[in-house]
Amino acid sequence: MSDTSVTFRVHRYKQGDEEPHHDRFPVEVGARTTVLDALTGIRRTQDPTLTLRHSCFHASCGTCAMKVNDHEVLACVTNVRELGTDEVRVEPLDNAPVVSDLVVDMGPFYARFDVAERPLVRDSELVPGSHQAAGVPHAMRYEDCIECGICISACPIAGTDPAYLGPAALAAMDRVRQEPRGVDVGPILRLADDPHAAWRCHLAFECSEACPSSVDPAGHIMQLRRSLLARGWRRPSAEPQGARR
Ligand code: SF4
Ligand code: FES
Repeated sequence: MSDTSVTFRVHRYKQGDEEPHHDRFPVEVGARTTVLDALTGIRRTQDPTLTLRHSCFHASCGTCAMKVNDHEVLACVTNVRELGTDEVRVEPLDNAPVVSDLVVDMGPFYARFDVAERPLVRDSELVPGSHQAAGVPHAMRYEDCIECGICISACPIAGTDPAYLGPAALAAMDRVRQEPRGVDVGPILRLADDPHAAWRCHLAFECSEACPSSVDPAGHIMQLRRSLLARGWRRPSAEPQGARR
């Protein structure tokens, strides 16, 4: 099949700009061209100042997350033709400060994990008797989550409550609850019971729908809530019942 002409309408913003704007770039796309292929091609042949972030090109590193035609995706595995439009609108993730063009500051996203006592980190001190791979001092994340930030961008609560821990951190906390491996889950559940944590979710399920790695953060949040209720902790409608560990 021959190439197809598609117009990319790309969000542009540089530090010091008063307002963001969009630039249009014509791109010839083949049957297997991804959004990331197109954007790196634009940077190579049309505008070397276009800023975007990527690494692995295979849905593993999470760095190429962005919004394409209003949906959060990994650009490296989003086929342009399968979008079914001859204009492709590309924006940075929501609910994160824009650094430049399509690049957002992921610091606030990672800070949510810090507030959550960074339960993703499972180093040998936290896992008695565990065997770390040679040369790998820490297991830095729990299974599946690639820390792409897509769930925070898709979450309607994260846009209105900057203190909300958010889907990824809550999912990580629930994963520790499920499989503590020697970690005391009491402090983690106490944090999950915070008004800006598990009870803040409004069950939009946008995070689970958008997550490219099948983490199902909303499902984890529901399981966290069930676990809190089982302990008699009922925020925000009632004060906790019974002593907490
Ligand atoms: S839970 Fe899913 S969407 Fe959220 S950061 Fe992890 S992989 Fe990305
Ligand atoms: S470039 Fe790594 S996930 Fe897309």
